[in-house]
Formats: sequence, C-alpha cells, structure tokens
Amino acid sequence: MPKIVTVTNQKGGVGKTTVTCHLAFAAQEAGKRVLVVDFCGQGNASQFLTQDLRINKQRGGAETLFSSNELKFSDTPWDNLKVLHGHLYLEELDKKEDELLKLAIKLRPAIRSLPFDYVIFDTPPALGPRIAGPLFWSDTAILTVQPKLSSITGLDDTFDTIKGVKRINHGLSIRMVVNLFTKSSKTQRRFREDLQKKFGNAIIEEFPLRTPVSDALENFKPVWQHARDKKLGQHWKMFSKRVLDLGV
Ligand SMILES: Nc1ncnc2c1ncn2[C@@H]1O[C@H](COP(=O)(O)OP(=O)(O)O)[C@@H](O)[C@H]1O
Ligand SMILES: [Mg+2]
Repeated sequence: MPKIVTVTNQKGGVGKTTVTCHLAFAAQEAGKRVLVVDFCGQGNASQFLTQDLRINKQRGGAETLFSSNELKFSDTPWDNLKVLHGHLYLEELDKKEDELLKLAIKLRPAIRSLPFDYVIFDTPPALGPRIAGPLFWSDTAILTVQPKLSSITGLDDTFDTIKGVKRINHGLSIRMVVNLFTKSSKTQRRFREDLQKKFGNAIIEEFPLRTPVSDALENFKPVWQHARDKKLGQHWKMFSKRVLDLGV
C-alpha cells in the first residue's frame, strides 16, 4: 500500500509544485517506486519530472484516474518514477464536481492499492474535485503557504474543504510548510507570526526564498543536486525525507 501525500493550497505560486518535485526526487533516490499525479492544468511538475516540455498539451495522464480508461503512466529518466501528467483540459473536471466527488470516494480502495511506495499529488490553485479527490485518498496533506496576505486569506476555504474531507478520510493528517519567506520584510515577519499563532503545531518547515531552489527544477534536478550551498540542499532533502518517513 503506498503512502499518499497531497501538496495543496488554493493559492498559486506558493511552492506546491516545488515541494511535490522535491518529495518525488527524494523518494526516487531512495530507490522507492514513486508516482506523481499532476492535477494542475499548467503541468509544471510533469514537465520538470519527464523533461518533456510539451507534455501539458496532451490529454490523458491525471484525468484517467477519474475515468474507466486504463492508467497510462508517463516515463521519466528514472525507472522507478512515473507520472500521470497534468494538462489544460483538466479544468473540464471541475465542471463535474458533485459526480467526481462521489466517484473519488468509490475509487479510494483502488487508488490506495496502486503498485507504488509513494503517490504524490500536485494540485491546482482552485478548490474543487482536483483538490478534494486527492485529499480523500491521502494519508497526509502538505499545505504550502507564503507569509503574505494573498496566501493567508484563502486558507480558511482550504480548511473548510479539509474539514469536509476528514468526515470521510478520518486519518488525514495536515502539515503546513511556510515557503518563500523573506525575513528582512517586516510585513512578512508579521504574517509569519500570525501563522505561528494560528497553526503553530501543524507547521513542520520554513523555507526562505532562495533562487537556487527554482533554478534546480529548471535544470530538472532537486536543489541538493544543483545548489553549491550544501546547507540549502540538505535543508530540502531532510524535509523531504521526513515527510516521506525515509529515516533521517
Ligand atoms: N523556496 C523557494 N525559493 C525560491 N523560489 C521558489 C521557492 N519555492 C518556490 N519557488 C519558485 O516560486 C514559483 C512558484 O512556485 P511553484 O512551486 O510553481 O508554486 P505553485 O505550484 O504553488 O504554483 C516558481 O517559480 C518556483 O520556482
Ligand atoms: Mg504548481
């Protein structure tokens, strides 16, 4: 049975795809069988992991989880890392929300017995079945947040979704990652403190904004293979291993 993780937040640009890819790389390096399901229409995680920049123009991939079609995994340069890719047409799924939420509950046993050690979901910046579905199936939700007003104001909506999901998926654990934090900003420090007061125990990590993190994925690598700053690389690696229970 795989361990299933959903990386989410209804806000875009907060690091969901970055966290997803780093978790996938860490599990891959540990020799585990990993599936990344990219429910985001932009398909950035699919591009970074398959190194196929046009993959987000093709149908199939993640949408096949909700259909009776056979799952068609995309290969990556690593035998033990597969992708159900994301593409623009995934937005069509949001129009069938009620139907898909019922289906998501029915699909739970099948998805929880996929032949992988880890299944990691990247999600779109919009609440709907592409977030609620993966949460129904997951052991852990990782909420990425930026200490900014725009990122924090939508959090209550995300928590409403999580509350609804927890009525069915009782075991879902919620972890929060503060990302893209600029400590020199007084405003961001204030929002960081607000997050601490509100979610203290759930916050498991804090990452500052560091350019090598985004550069690494553009080079199809995790930051620990790309950055000259070993401490930065280790920070991301230790986090990823901790989330995946890979023994640090
Ligand atoms: N800790 C970080 N330091 C620097 N850049 C980051 C960091 N986290 C994310 N980014 C960059 O910020 C942008 C948004 O991140 P992304 O993971 O795509 O967010 P989301 O998937 O939530 O939309 C990307 O360009 C990404 O490379
Ligand atoms: Mg993304």
